[in-house]
Amino acid sequence: MRIIKIEMGIAFFLVLTLLNCSEDDNKNSPEPSTKLAIPFASIASNVTDDSFQANWVLVPEAENYLVDVSTDSDFSVMLTGYDALIVQDNAVTITGLSPASNYYYRVRAQKGTEITNNSNVITVTTTGVAPEESEDPTFLKVKANALENPFFVGVAVKSNQLTEGSAYDVVLKNEFSSITAEYEMKMDPISTGSGSYNWEAADKIVNYGNDNGINVHGHALVWHNAVPDWLSDFSGTDAEFALEVKKYITDVVTHYAGKVSSWDVVNEAVDDNGNMRNTIFLQKMGPDYIKDCYQWARDAANAAGDTDLLLFYNDYATSTNIPKQDKVFSIVDNLKSNNLIDGVGFQMHNNYLSPTKEQIETDINRAVALGLKVHVSELDIQVNQNNDISYLTEERALAQKEKYKEIVKIYNALPKANKYALTVWGFKDNESWIPYSTDLNHPGNDWPLLYNNKFELKKSHTGFLEGLE
Ligand code: G3I
Repeated sequence: MRIIKIEMGIAFFLVLTLLNCSEDDNKNSPEPSTKLAIPFASIASNVTDDSFQANWVLVPEAENYLVDVSTDSDFSVMLTGYDALIVQDNAVTITGLSPASNYYYRVRAQKGTEITNNSNVITVTTTGVAPEESEDPTFLKVKANALENPFFVGVAVKSNQLTEGSAYDVVLKNEFSSITAEYEMKMDPISTGSGSYNWEAADKIVNYGNDNGINVHGHALVWHNAVPDWLSDFSGTDAEFALEVKKYITDVVTHYAGKVSSWDVVNEAVDDNGNMRNTIFLQKMGPDYIKDCYQWARDAANAAGDTDLLLFYNDYATSTNIPKQDKVFSIVDNLKSNNLIDGVGFQMHNNYLSPTKEQIETDINRAVALGLKVHVSELDIQVNQNNDISYLTEERALAQKEKYKEIVKIYNALPKANKYALTVWGFKDNESWIPYSTDLNHPGNDWPLLYNNKFELKKSHTGFLEGLE
């Protein structure tokens, strides 16, 4: 047994020696190979209406390359089959593309486990002509665009819905000609501190509209429900607070100059009793804060050369709450006399019983009388505001259809000069802010929009179409 132990000992010693040698070898071996160079992507070649050749400069020692292709310049979503596609050569043909469309590619080099950073990005536009917009008359915007006096048909969106090829993307491009950010263009998601901003989500929405010929309505520069913590906890003087608001308005209007057609400069400044809402803006900036905000927005737009920017005031329930309606129009009248407003947004968070046709027309016509644009800005129509149904009954669906038809007809009857957009506040019923809403004290479910939870058309969509006749 002892001999075995000795032999094992020798064997163990030999192994250690070999290891040591190999370590010694390593210590004396030349430095590992130099790091791979980052590839340089060069312009595409052989560009056709459905393909192109991506090219890059060979990287010495690279075993292969990883190629990304996207329709987004930020590569947020890769084209199917082109997400780190492994290629041996320094070129590859990308196929299955759409005509007259923009594509972006970049490349990394790989050797073993080493992968370089991304190369520069090359932009390619395929040849040919983009497919004719579908002229299907059952698409809302197609029918609206065919009117004698067309107007935008809008929808509230979230940036995560805007992925190329998503159901939202398809429905949006077929049915809508305007978009409003439901949340991501408000102060709280954008403003991260004094003079510092997170533009990412808002830029995605604005770029989507600009890239696809869809109007973008900005919502909203100043709203008491969208004040970022850093500003609501602001410890400076009231004058310094006002300067922060001015800086915010100036920077945002400048950032989106020429890209956004209109802004809700101030949202919901009047409370349900018909008084100025006692917001942080009123408390710290005084009763002239509204006029100041519109002046700053107008000055910023003009300074940026965006003299066509439309400035709106936006509020809710003015059709049924006359004290509120009167106060809103005293504010709007004052802004108009200073040439600081171009339109009024009527949110129209309605229900299948209210407001009546006459109430809506009286309300909206006060803006027409002032020569202002009218934006039905956040249309949805509740059918269960009293929580007396547990599913969308046929009877309520038909009542909702008639209410959508009614308000679209009212809007379509407006003079051309006063038309702007009619925007619905979301796509699918189950994504609406309304069901079980604590803001609304809505006790139950509801089905307020044009598409059901499966993105199927509802009777309300038919009502909207019939209103366009
Ligand atoms: O995206 C964030 C998510 O990252 C986070 O984890 C989560 C929890 O904090 O919040 C998410 O953001 C929410 C956002 O909706 C998502 O879309 C916000 O908290 C939530 O406050 C925001 O609610 C929006 C609300 O305005 C407040 O901005 C509703 O979607 C939107 O429908 C509602 O719309 C308002 C109009 O702007 C003005 N008129 C009334 C209307 C209804 O309240």
